Amino acid sequence: MESATPVIVAIDGPSGTGKSSTSKAVAAQLGLSYLDTGAQYRAITWWMVNNGIDIEDPAAIAAAAGKPEIVSGTDPQGPTITVDGVDVAGPIRTQEVTSKVSAVSAVPEVRARITELQRSIAASAADGIVVEGRDIGTTVLPDADLKIFLTASAEARAARRSGELKGADVHSTREALIKRDAADSSRKTSPLAKADDAVEVDTTELTLAQVIECVVTLVEEKRAGK
Ligand code: DC
Repeated sequence: MESATPVIVAIDGPSGTGKSSTSKAVAAQLGLSYLDTGAQYRAITWWMVNNGIDIEDPAAIAAAAGKPEIVSGTDPQGPTITVDGVDVAGPIRTQEVTSKVSAVSAVPEVRARITELQRSIAASAADGIVVEGRDIGTTVLPDADLKIFLTASAEARAARRSGELKGADVHSTREALIKRDAADSSRKTSPLAKADDAVEVDTTELTLAQVIECVVTLVEEKRAGK
């Protein structure tokens, strides 16, 4: 679908709310680009781990933040992510990276670097883009045409995440999710937060198809100028 002016959609929320699946499907359905900003923070974390940077040392992380070259492919049918030319789509999903990404993404120099990258990708998306993350509506793209904040109960989020991780223990997944959300919500620089003008969608009782339909309708209404 072509639009006269590019539409920018920001989708934020904690992990396990269906953000990635929803954002990809909405972008594919509406002919928009798609950016997974969590993958970018995971990619820079993967690089830090692989280059022996001490994750407990924010100054060391800050000093190295400008070094890796992170490139995101924005086709919602097959998004890609490389670091210095290496495909890291698999390695960024390991337990090790997941447990370290909150510490790395809390460092202001890391956020400044990745935020700049995100803004330039959004600005060059000819037909518009769906950008998913934690601080897109509040910080990265405060002028987005539509802001969505997805939520779900901790139980629902843990059940979905352990399903994705092919049967991981729901209890420990729930504890890990709560810990990561608390860290992401309490950091000083651009924490996970709902923008005042975001539409909140509680996905606890909704199927993925229902969430997608809801967001597609909101984008279409926005485009129609309602
Ligand atoms: O969406 P995800 O689980 O892949 O995100 C991984 C981590 O990256 C998450 O714990 C917090 C961080 N993140 C962030 O700080 N800001 C964003 N816009 C997206 C992700």
